[in-house]
Amino acid sequence: MHESINTRKLAADAAVDHVKNGMTVGLGTGTTAYWAIQEIGRRVADGLQIRAVATSVQSENLAHELRIPIVPISSIDSFDITIDGADEIDDQLNVIKGGGGALLREKIIGAATKFYIIIADEKKYVTQLGAFPLPVEVVKFGWELVFYKLQSFGCTPVLRTLEEQPYLTDNDHYIIDCSFFHIPDPQQLHDQINRIPGVVENGLFLSMADLVILGKGNGSTEVLHKKSS
Ligand code: A5P
Repeated sequence: MHESINTRKLAADAAVDHVKNGMTVGLGTGTTAYWAIQEIGRRVADGLQIRAVATSVQSENLAHELRIPIVPISSIDSFDITIDGADEIDDQLNVIKGGGGALLREKIIGAATKFYIIIADEKKYVTQLGAFPLPVEVVKFGWELVFYKLQSFGCTPVLRTLEEQPYLTDNDHYIIDCSFFHIPDPQQLHDQINRIPGVVENGLFLSMADLVILGKGNGSTEVLHKKSS
């Protein structure tokens, strides 16, 4: 019997090869970033010297368990590298993130990163973004008004819940997941959503990724580079 290939780990291990001594590292969130954090932890135990900030409480806890040196974000002015997962990726390396609820911290850290690597199973690579519901992080006050506004943009919005209660992000906000099905103009939608008062951030990460590494079912990886503008 064949053992199934862990495509997430394949992509994660290839990404961690870019982490070098002395770097300040952003640690992503989710089931793919988990493998990157594991591999970084293994290399730290072998002597790799880095300092890191995590994009979620969950990833920070994992990093502590693995004895990865975590520093306060207030002590950092930029990140040499960040490795994070994605929910969808298009051929411009535009990405939907936030399925795991960490989009705000992920975007703050991603935006302050010099070399931003997205890792994913090859199935996350799509011709057009939108089949995955776009997560939008909103403040609690008046979230219903934001919900109606998002609906008027042509999506089916759903307030994310956990155990029948509204899901709370690490920043004590709600998330509204917006099924657009097709997002032909990600930049326009991104700007339109972020102009709604009450929206904190949305899960469209546009022109941020420098590198995408896809783990493939045949045991290989595919590396996609940002096109120079
Ligand atoms: C966390 O909020 C997300 O942005 C994740 O990075 C994204 O949902 C990918 O998660 P998986 O690696 O678990 O698919």
